[in-house]
Amino acid sequence: MRGEETSPVRVRVPGRQATEYEVRIERGIFRELAALCRRAAPAHRYAIIADSKVASLYGRPALEAFGEPREGAASGAGLFSFPAGEWNKTSEEWARLSDELAAEGFGRDGAIVALGGGVTGDLAGFVAATYMRGVALVQVPTSLLAMLDSSIGGKTGLDTLEAKNLLGAFHQPRLVLIDPELLRSLPTFQLASGLAEAVKAGAIADERLFGWMESHAAGLLNRDVDLLTELIRRSVAIKAAVVEQDPLEDGLREILNFGHTIGHALEALGGYEVLHGEAVACGMRLEARLGELLGVTREGPADRLRGLLEACALDRQVEEEFTAEQVLKAARGDKKVRGSVIRCVLLSRIGEVATAAGGGHAHRIPPDRELELLEMALRSKGGSADCG
Ligand SMILES: NC(=O)c1ccc[n+]([C@@H]2O[C@H](COP(=O)([O-])OP(=O)(O)OC[C@H]3O[C@@H](n4cnc5c(N)ncnc54)[C@H](O)[C@@H]3O)[C@@H](O)[C@H]2O)c1
Ligand SMILES: [Zn+2]
Repeated sequence: MRGEETSPVRVRVPGRQATEYEVRIERGIFRELAALCRRAAPAHRYAIIADSKVASLYGRPALEAFGEPREGAASGAGLFSFPAGEWNKTSEEWARLSDELAAEGFGRDGAIVALGGGVTGDLAGFVAATYMRGVALVQVPTSLLAMLDSSIGGKTGLDTLEAKNLLGAFHQPRLVLIDPELLRSLPTFQLASGLAEAVKAGAIADERLFGWMESHAAGLLNRDVDLLTELIRRSVAIKAAVVEQDPLEDGLREILNFGHTIGHALEALGGYEVLHGEAVACGMRLEARLGELLGVTREGPADRLRGLLEACALDRQVEEEFTAEQVLKAARGDKKVRGSVIRCVLLSRIGEVATAAGGGHAHRIPPDRELELLEMALRSKGGSADCG
């Protein structure tokens, strides 16, 4: 299957600044980086932005692909790096990278190549969105989470001291180039974190994908690149279909937030000790249980979710480290909370989200029952929910 030609996923973004880009998912395609960038985003110069870990692994091959075996090159392509870690997705790194580009004389005829995980995609994407009011961007995701989720859809942004992703812009890439071979170097706990978003994609939109993951969890976790390639294709197709219908997150796109109301709360409470996928895995388990307790979700999905997440090595119960009150308080700080009411995307069954009263998919959790329901969800470790 190596190097096999497959048809790319095409993402069409409607609206005032309508655009269309390809997502190319192929083993070995990283070798064609320069040619594909030149075709999709013709530019005088390319700035490859990568974090320190990815730069040390793939920076040189990327520069060599452009025929530029030097760092910070004055023409052709240059490598610009920042320290790895979510805590560097900041305005300080954004300003430093932007200043470096300016010092190198990088102009509007340049393009930015975001080479890395979701942190790089968001940070380099925000540099591309803002530098000279916007320059061309190519996303080259290297973590599983970035390959199957964050590189698609055009969201870019930064964290602030107050909140994650508080600053941001929509800036669609000209191309997303995914080489699943690059996952060979990704640490297993990071691979598992990415699997959480694929479980989410199946849970909200594709029961067959969910069932396929149940059959192949061990192979996926063991880094079978054929299986990972198929997983990325199927997950990308789901995300692309959703963002095409709702590019600016006015409606349908909120279904992608399944597991994220509680997930973001746990992430905020756990700081940088908790990976996004780990937090979302816990959020999905708890929100599926909440759906059952509220009678929105038929019984069963919460146990099935728990089983698949465990098979994907996503069995850490982050919520056990906090009280229900702490989780609720943190959830109220979440962006999906209007006023003090907590809203969650709830499943009707595996593969389908339930429509909320009054439309949309974010269900209002009755404020007078929030604590009681969350405590019940936290207590239930499996079996059927015990709610009347
Ligand atoms: N824009 C969006 O739509 C969107 C969606 C979901 C998540 N996100 C964001 O994505 C971020 C999380 O992304 P992430 O989990 O990829 O984190 P990350 O970018 O920090 O990558 C995780 C770690 O893996 C390393 N790494 C990446 N690729 C590697 C490879 N091939 N080999 C070895 N090491 C590699 C990185 O250096 C880093 O240390 C969060 O900031 C989150 O807010 C954005
Ligand atoms: Zn997510």
